[in-house]
Amino acid sequence: MTHRAVLVAITLIIAACHHPSKQAGRSGPTPLQLELPGWAIADTSLRLDFPYDNPLTVEGAALGRLLFHEKALSADGSLSCASCHLHRFAFADSARFSPGMKGMRTARNTMPLMNLAWDHFFFWDARALSLELQAFEPVTAHREMASRWSEVCARLAQDKRYPPLFAAAFGDDRIDSLRVAFALAQFERTMVSLDSRFDRYFYLKQRDALRPQEIRGKDLFFTRAHCVDCHEPPLFKGHHVLNIGLDSAHTDLGMGGRTGLPWHAGRFKTASLRNIAVTAPYMHDGRFATLEEVVDFYADDVFTASPTLDEHMLPWRKGEVRLSMQDRMDLVAFLRTLTDSAFLADPLFGPPE
Ligand code: HEC
Ligand code: HEC
Repeated sequence: MTHRAVLVAITLIIAACHHPSKQAGRSGPTPLQLELPGWAIADTSLRLDFPYDNPLTVEGAALGRLLFHEKALSADGSLSCASCHLHRFAFADSARFSPGMKGMRTARNTMPLMNLAWDHFFFWDARALSLELQAFEPVTAHREMASRWSEVCARLAQDKRYPPLFAAAFGDDRIDSLRVAFALAQFERTMVSLDSRFDRYFYLKQRDALRPQEIRGKDLFFTRAHCVDCHEPPLFKGHHVLNIGLDSAHTDLGMGGRTGLPWHAGRFKTASLRNIAVTAPYMHDGRFATLEEVVDFYADDVFTASPTLDEHMLPWRKGEVRLSMQDRMDLVAFLRTLTDSAFLADPLFGPPE
């Protein structure tokens, strides 16, 4: 077997031909196992724990895939989730702010979607506490799809494809917002990306998978550049929402805008660095066009006097993070090794035929 993260098609075909669960006197959707590479199965930080009321199933994920590409979710039928979350950019968008309904643009940079099965909160300001809750928002958000749930559900019910798919995924053909959100969340949980050149070097011990400059960059990342303090492997993100000192005055308060608490000002979700080479522009407001600009920020421009600067930024406050021009190039070279080209081209995530 290859080290591809998710291989679901085979189970789908077998289930469709034989209905094994039905023969055994049990009806209902077929449980779907995410197939992780061997090293990831051994990593206890990657244990998967799905919500008990929305287990991952073949039929649920397949429905979610169709819904993710469904323009009927938007008010005028012009946008699907995939209009802003583009597969080839790890489901991010190359625009700083994505075009939504009626010429409006999103207020923040579109986030990439991968490895969300392991996250505990969603959005740049961490306002949704599950993927199920997250999925409710874009459909009705006025800058995004600007729909009403009652209309969306009526539209799906009139489309001959959907009632049988809802029945297969959830037991009967009722279509409601909760089921749409559940199916979308299931599909998103199948988006696993753990097969980059870094993984082959680090976990599979393929010593020729990285070049010398990339190895120097990796060593910096893990030591005196302090990147690893927040962007922790294997996912290269952290389960924190924090202020890295981007601004002296916040135009977007991030988590603080939601909670109203002054010490939350400027806090944002710690983004994953996997596939980072394809998710430009960077940061919650897409202010940096290139990885070089991001690294220059960490080297030169961290606003260390920010009263809400996170404690993980102490090395910056103490002036200990010094990066030469060569260091910066090496770091960028390393970041580019986190690209998982198989994930970016995996036909399982494209629009269903
Ligand atoms: C008009 C563009 C647009 C559309 C359409 C859109 N999104 Fe998003 N998505 C965004 C933006 C922008 C963010 C970040 C918003 C924020 O943090 O305030 C985001 C964030 C997310 C996140 C959070 C990821 C994380 O790491 O926390 C998920 C999950 C997501 N979107 C899924 C979806 C789904 C599912 C749909 C379809 C129902 C969808 N999006 C439709 C632009 C869009
Ligand atoms: C204190 C924790 C912390 C440290 C240390 C840190 N980061 Fe970050 N990083 C974050 C957070 C939080 C964000 C999102 C900030 C935002 O958008 O406002 C982020 C965003 C990024 C992004 C943009 C991600 C995207 O999808 O837009 C890159 C690239 C990045 N960091 C690279 C690095 C590198 C390289 C280092 C080491 C020099 C580093 N980070 C050190 C917390 C940290």
